[in-house]
Amino acid sequence: MTYDTIILGAGAAGMMCAAHCGGRVLVIDHAKAPGEKIRISGGGRCNFTNMYAGPGNFLSRNPHFCKSALARYTQWDFVDLVNRHGIAWHEKTLGQLFCDGSSKQIVALLLDEMERAGADLWVQSSVRDLRKTENGFGLQVEREGQRLSLSCTNLVLATGGKSIPKMGATGLAYDIAGQFDLRVTDTRAALVPFTFSDGKFNDLSGVALSARLSNDRTSFDEALLFTHRGLSGPSVLQLSSYWREGEAIRVNLIPDLPVFDLLREQRQNGGRKALKTELARHLPARLVDYLSQHISMSGNLADQSDAKLSELTAALSDWQLLPSGTEGYRTAEVTLGGIDTDELSSKTMEAKEIPGLYAIGEAVDVTGWLGGYNFQWAWSSGHAAGTAI
Ligand code: FDA
Repeated sequence: MTYDTIILGAGAAGMMCAAHCGGRVLVIDHAKAPGEKIRISGGGRCNFTNMYAGPGNFLSRNPHFCKSALARYTQWDFVDLVNRHGIAWHEKTLGQLFCDGSSKQIVALLLDEMERAGADLWVQSSVRDLRKTENGFGLQVEREGQRLSLSCTNLVLATGGKSIPKMGATGLAYDIAGQFDLRVTDTRAALVPFTFSDGKFNDLSGVALSARLSNDRTSFDEALLFTHRGLSGPSVLQLSSYWREGEAIRVNLIPDLPVFDLLREQRQNGGRKALKTELARHLPARLVDYLSQHISMSGNLADQSDAKLSELTAALSDWQLLPSGTEGYRTAEVTLGGIDTDELSSKTMEAKEIPGLYAIGEAVDVTGWLGGYNFQWAWSSGHAAGTAI
């Protein structure tokens, strides 16, 4: 069987690419159904893009690489597509756009667009052998107990990264890149919770608050969640993409709360309340209890000097913690790193040295922040390759 284009991976990027390629197109996936990560994304409502998406929201060894594709297929182009399919959506927070109904609507949209473009889809199919031929690529695919020989002019790697192997994530794109001598940067789990080895936060599990998480390079103001194993929540996931083993992180528990002024004001109004009780009006009570084991909070407000209150405020705004690690690929939303962007054209996603070979989506060393950015990269890079083919 001969195709113009074979796309490996029926995820966000692969399906978007298939919707834009001309000619005879086949999309191959080993999972039972296409777009499984889309289906589970955004708590079942798919945070499909971000109103503020721009190159600054992506990590890559070459931060300029993503610019061209993002500019040529923007978040508003995808919103337009969503509108044309009559899918209702809303902004949840920070420009994050979600379906009102279900993420399955986005999968249906992509399947619809693929059908319109005349692309074929094979699920539960595995690539067994792949090689370069004179005019393109030859591959063996196992499907419904049969081994089939296929050939194509263009081959698109869209099998994503390694996060959540239980959902079928594999390193196939990196292996194929290696086979063709394309460099792959170091890969690691990103957008992932931090773990602490000593059961440090057992008593705080379930406590959530707004916080600022930072390291020496960046900081994020979003929700923080304590778990049995460590720290999670958007601010933690965001920082994890910038974190390296052995590095301490800083937690500001009161980024927008003028605690010093509030406590001093209360002290002036009599100050008969216990400091802990007053603090628990502004921070979760369980957190105050926990912190009081480490920071002195004894006595009533009236007993606290300005110096004491200022010391307390400083401790609350700069809590240094040393994660022992992360939850890894088991729960990571994305994989940081991937096929080195130096190997690809930023306009078409085609490998510079291997004509006809393309790489798109998470398989490439372009990783978005939390908040719809990773899907936007899948749409933009899929569109770039699809329209170039
Ligand atoms: P994607 O992973 O979508 O697709 C790859 C496809 O290749 C899969 O269908 C897989 O089965 C197939 N495949 C893999 N190995 C194969 C092999 N060996 N043979 C054949 N097929 C193979 N992002 C965002 O912007 N907003 C959000 O709300 C979320 N939410 C979210 C929740 C959770 C729980 C996760 C894990 C991730 C997110 N993300 C997200 C990230 C987002 O899902 C991710 O970045 C994109 O799906 C990447 O799209 P790709 O098409 O590159 O890979």
